[in-house]
Amino acid sequence: MAAEQIEYFKAKYQAIEDLPGVGPATATKLREIGFKTVESIATAAVNELIAAGIGEATAEKVIDAARKSMAITFVRGDELVKLRSNVRYLSTGCSSLDRLLGGGVETQSITEFYGEFGTGKSQICQQLCVTVQLPYDQGGLEGAALYVDTENTFRPERIMQLAPRFGLDPEEALKKIIFAEAYTSNHQMVLLDNADEVIKDNNIRLIIIDSVTSHFRSEYIGREMLASRQQTLNKHLHKLIRLSRAFNAVAVITNQVMAQPDVFFAKVVTPVGGHILGHTSHSRIFLRKGRDNVRIAKLTVSPFLPEGEAPLRITQRGIESEEDV
Ligand code: GTP
Ligand code: MG
Repeated sequence: MAAEQIEYFKAKYQAIEDLPGVGPATATKLREIGFKTVESIATAAVNELIAAGIGEATAEKVIDAARKSMAITFVRGDELVKLRSNVRYLSTGCSSLDRLLGGGVETQSITEFYGEFGTGKSQICQQLCVTVQLPYDQGGLEGAALYVDTENTFRPERIMQLAPRFGLDPEEALKKIIFAEAYTSNHQMVLLDNADEVIKDNNIRLIIIDSVTSHFRSEYIGREMLASRQQTLNKHLHKLIRLSRAFNAVAVITNQVMAQPDVFFAKVVTPVGGHILGHTSHSRIFLRKGRDNVRIAKLTVSPFLPEGEAPLRITQRGIESEEDV
């Protein structure tokens, strides 16, 4: 299943040779002057390519094709204001959590759910895959979801179980979730780097990376790799932000925390991504376990909301608060 769906993520132009107007000779010239990727060509100036002996008309055509293939271009300040005015909130389907978040998870920015294992991070993600499909007046975004799964925790059965609570047909709900399993951190990045087309074609309004850090944590080991891990992760998250802005989509990441048992009394938890992740994600919600199936969500970072807490429960019906029952 996963392999078939990954086909979706094939970029329109993988290699620079795929760009219209780039033959083998031009490709060699481009590589010689350091333009090895479609991304770098998209941000190149015509003059830079002319300097390598490429004709002006070809240079313009190639840059244009590269920019279009990324589906993301630079915006002017006035366009940015317009973009911000389009920010919408996606209901989590849990009233207490929605209130904590000021209405739900925001489009055009990253929301991070972090906490120890079993605190409900993946459960929230799966529920969002359902609520995103709802009409706007019911808190949805009338769109589809893209689920990048690094830990093999996505369960179609869970979606089918959640759908009826929100008045959706289980089979139809599943059709609006595009799933991709990422096998390595590099694969995870490639999936996102090539996701613009699948996002556009499927009207995706919710992009989930669950978990964003697990591969990075297992592949980049030791202090000497910390800097390069953070740099790569940072690049990945900036890509995610750009996609969420370009498509007015909600971006949700999860992050497991490491308990530091050596700290006496208060158990201190550190998000895996460290500070860079903290600066990149705009809203952060810490989840901790309460008694039985109770979880407590704490808004720890928000661009505009006060810190606060919300109790919620994980039940067969999904994530809910008392008033939702
Ligand atoms: P990691 O990915 O391991 O870091 O954990 P997580 O935070 O993603 O946890 P996840 O969202 O997978 O939550 C798992 C919790 O949800 C477990 O405590 C389960 O008992 C609970 N859970 C999952 N499905 C159901 C269900 O159908 N009914 C009830 N009552 N609980 C459920
Ligand atoms: Mg999980």
